[in-house]
Amino acid sequence: MEKKSFKRITTRTLHEMKKMNEKISMLTAYDYTFSKILDEANIDIILVGDSASNVFAGNETTVPITLDEMIYHAKSVVKGAKRALVVVDMPFGTYQSNPDKALKSAIRIMKESGAHAVKLEGGKEVSESISKIINAGIPVMGHLGLTPQSIYKFGTYNVRGKNKVEADQLIEDAQTLEKLGCFSTVLEKIPHKLSEEISKKTKFPLIGIGAGNNVDGQVLVIHDLIGLTNEFNPRFIRRYLDLNSSIKSAVSQFIKDVKSSDFPSKDEMY
Ligand code: KIV
Repeated sequence: MEKKSFKRITTRTLHEMKKMNEKISMLTAYDYTFSKILDEANIDIILVGDSASNVFAGNETTVPITLDEMIYHAKSVVKGAKRALVVVDMPFGTYQSNPDKALKSAIRIMKESGAHAVKLEGGKEVSESISKIINAGIPVMGHLGLTPQSIYKFGTYNVRGKNKVEADQLIEDAQTLEKLGCFSTVLEKIPHKLSEEISKKTKFPLIGIGAGNNVDGQVLVIHDLIGLTNEFNPRFIRRYLDLNSSIKSAVSQFIKDVKSSDFPSKDEMY
């Protein structure tokens, strides 16, 4: 039987895709099973997002998740991904303000999980950390616009970059990330006109979430896409399934079958 060959997506592939106008697909995964499914469906990038703090661990924000926890998720995801580029979020407190600590954290992620790149939030304020990590040979993806790790600074999850001062700052930050050598950046929840402007003023791949279509790819949280979550409903989510309802009705049926002794049947016994 012919062996299936998997050509790994690299940071270089993403730049080639941008050149060829091929859009980049990115989804989150936090475990082996989901990672394998997304990979077999040919997703380009799997993000081990710190959204694990919300959808996996049940925290209100992304702030509490730890480096050890992110490495645990990343290790499982890496095992399921043969083709996709695996990018891991650096959690809050592991890179802000201390470039040496940032490098140590990034090295731990790469060495202990086997992932291919890290992602961190912020622009010029984290530029020293980004430089240090990139200079050590670790690819960095940026994250601008709505940066959930700074929720207590901003106080809301509203659209960012709506006024000129914020918009100009975002353009400058995107240019800074590109100059520092980030291979790509996420743009979260900003007006589509602003992403278009950022796209005109930079050359690296831009991956949007709630940033419109003038970007090089799109990312969503897998739990939102398949409708496992149903209480988080921002406009940028497209739900392709309603697994929350499907799982509940399967579980209700199971309970009924157990209570009525319908399960297991003769065919399900030894
Ligand atoms: O943590 C995450 O899932 C993310 C995406 C929303 C981009 O950062």
